[in-house]
Amino acid sequence: MLVDIVTIFPGFFASPLATGLLGKAGERGLVEVRLHDLRDWATDRHRSVDDAPFGGGAGMVMVPGPWFDALDELEAQGPARVVLLAPDGRRFDHKVAQRLAAEPRLILCCGRYEGIDERVRTRVDEVLSIGDFVLAGGETAALVVLEAVARLVPGVMGNADSATDESFAAGLLEYPQYTRPAVYRGLEVPAVLRSGDHGAVARWRRDQALDRTRRLRPDLLEQAEEDADGPQAPG
Ligand code: ADE
Repeated sequence: MLVDIVTIFPGFFASPLATGLLGKAGERGLVEVRLHDLRDWATDRHRSVDDAPFGGGAGMVMVPGPWFDALDELEAQGPARVVLLAPDGRRFDHKVAQRLAAEPRLILCCGRYEGIDERVRTRVDEVLSIGDFVLAGGETAALVVLEAVARLVPGVMGNADSATDESFAAGLLEYPQYTRPAVYRGLEVPAVLRSGDHGAVARWRRDQALDRTRRLRPDLLEQAEEDADGPQAPG
């Protein structure tokens, strides 16, 4: 997968892209990320990308020119799904991550300031928000999307099962995990996990995942039921 990120802060991404899973995915050529400074498409001496809003009001708005020119240039290189990160976008979740992970190329557009000139939206395929709060800009959100998507790209996760087994993949929260020691400060690992009975372990994990989801995120169960009742219920 190829990911182009357009931002006025390309340096923001340096450490996360060099670290951990994203670092490995880059080294192995599974997820190639190219950073683009939006100011490279500015046309004035000061490389400015913002201006005062028409109609008045506080703050600055990103002007359309550099965005249109950046997207003209990047899209001329080949097809890509263009995503704008903004607080009024559709809520990003695991399902969206799975859908985006199947794309060969993404262009992530990070807004700043009070917003981007509305006309830029005519150039994007979708607008995504990572939650009902306002960040200083789309960079953090782009990073969230990138990490959630990258780990679903085939080959990125070491163990092929770990991406399908975990929280949200089945519409449920994940079951509790334990490792050695079997007893720590009087806290014991459930006996069933040490029983060697794989069927019993699988049943226990399923029950725990259901119970946890019912207690902590009942909305996920309702969604799973709705999906199952729907006309194209997934298998
Ligand atoms: N930019 C600012 N806030 C954001 C949010 N919550 N999600 C995505 N992009 C944003």
